[in-house]
Amino acid sequence: MARRLAAGNWKMHGLGADLAELEAICGAAGQGCEVLLCLPATLVHRGASTAAGRIAIGGQDCHVMPQGAHTGDVSAAMLADAGASHVILGHSERRADHGETDDIVAAKAQAAQLAGLIAIVCVGETLEERDAGRTLEVVGGQLAASIPEGVDLARLVVAYEPVWAIGTGRTPTESQIAEVHAALREGLAMRFGAVPAGQVPLLYGGSVKPGNAAAIFALPDVDGALVGGASLKAADFAAIIAALAAA
Ligand code: PGA
Repeated sequence: MARRLAAGNWKMHGLGADLAELEAICGAAGQGCEVLLCLPATLVHRGASTAAGRIAIGGQDCHVMPQGAHTGDVSAAMLADAGASHVILGHSERRADHGETDDIVAAKAQAAQLAGLIAIVCVGETLEERDAGRTLEVVGGQLAASIPEGVDLARLVVAYEPVWAIGTGRTPTESQIAEVHAALREGLAMRFGAVPAGQVPLLYGGSVKPGNAAAIFALPDVDGALVGGASLKAADFAAIIAALAAA
């Protein structure tokens, strides 16, 4: 069985005053699942200090290099040094806004693991790709190419995030989520073997809310969620954490 993980992604939201929300989220963490909050880079250090080990803190991207002349970028070692244990890589907003390809995501995952971080690799189809019946082909291709050779599976999490479900309030049907998660597990099993593949947490992301979390967590091969908007409010994220802990 994979570890269960409730992961929040604050995206480009959050100032120092919002650490009060993080404090409340720490209060909601308990037995039954791990809790992670991926903060903007500016808040990682303060967030890790506030959390003091009660929940894990992550970044939302890292550079492929450990250091260098890359103005404005943040390396995996810098995130780790600031107190992060995880980093989201290849989120569809990074792929769309910054032209990140599967090759770049794989290089970032390698860099993240070298720095000791757990890499959360995101995959997901667009609405056009789903409507064209290409979901499994697209997601399978991203999975294969975004996970680097020599990956440490103990430091890997995969998140399925259909692009059309992110921030839209629309979610796939339960059978659509289950179909993709089964394909992801199968893809990992073909490459790494069934037992190691079974230990990689598979998260669903895209408009997860208190009202739909329990049904999503009841699906086979769903080990948790990557939550955007609903992780900004402690009450909402706490309800999602509780649903996962009870699943
Ligand atoms: P959402 O975002 O929960 O706001 O849809 C999910 C994500 O992008 O990780």
